[in-house]
Amino acid sequence: MKVKEAIEKRRAYRSLEKVEITDELIKDLSQSASLSPSCFNKQPWRFVFVKGQEQLKKIKRTLSKGNEWAEKASLIIAVFSSKEDDCIIKDKEYYFFDTGMATAFLILRATELDLVAHPIAGFDEDKVKEFLNIPENYRIITLLIVGKKSSTISNELSDWQKEAEVKRPERKSPDEFSFIDKFR
Ligand SMILES: Cc1cc2nc3c(=O)[nH]c(=O)nc-3n(C[C@H](O)[C@H](O)[C@H](O)COP(=O)(O)O)c2cc1C
Repeated sequence: MKVKEAIEKRRAYRSLEKVEITDELIKDLSQSASLSPSCFNKQPWRFVFVKGQEQLKKIKRTLSKGNEWAEKASLIIAVFSSKEDDCIIKDKEYYFFDTGMATAFLILRATELDLVAHPIAGFDEDKVKEFLNIPENYRIITLLIVGKKSSTISNELSDWQKEAEVKRPERKSPDEFSFIDKFR
C-alpha cells in the first residue's frame, strides 16, 4: 500500500470487531514506530500493548463517557513518554511531538494491515498509570483502541458517532492552515 493510500484509508472508526492479536503484530507495529524521527534520535515513545483479558477489562473501566464503543477493543495501546526522555531546547519540550510522530507511523502501519487504531484522550490517566505500572513522571498521551472495522454500524453509538462511521468529519481547507512565504 502506498503511503497516500494509508493516509486516506485511516479513519477513527468506532464500530469494531474482535481480531487476533499476535506477538508478530505487536513486533511489527513497534518496529514501524521505531523508524520515526526524533530529536537527537532520543526515541522518547513508550508503548504498553494491553491484550490480556484481565488487563483489558481494567483499562476499559477507565474510559470516559462516550467511549463505550471501545469495549470491543482487542488491543489497547497506551502511548506514553516523559519530558526527561527527549530534547528540551530552551523551554521547548519535544516529547509529545516525537511520540506523536511515532504513533502516527504505528497507526498508518496498522491501517495497512487492515486494522483500526483509534487514538483517544477520554480516559482516566491516573488509573491507567496505576493498572499498567507506569511511574508518576510519565504522561499518557493517548490510548490507541485497536480492532477490526465492523461492516455494521454499532447500535450503541450516538447519532454523530454513527454519522462519522460513514462520513469523515469535515476538514479545514488547506488555505486555512497552509501558507506560502509568510504566515497570513
Ligand atoms: C488526541 C486525540 C484524542 C481523541 N479522543 C477521542 C475520544 O476520546 N473519543 C473518540 O471517540 N474519538 C477520539 N478521537 C478521534 C477523533 O474524534 C477523530 O480522529 C476525528 O474526529 C477525525 O476523524 P477521523 O480520524 O476518522 O478522520 C481523538 C483523536 C485524537 C488525535
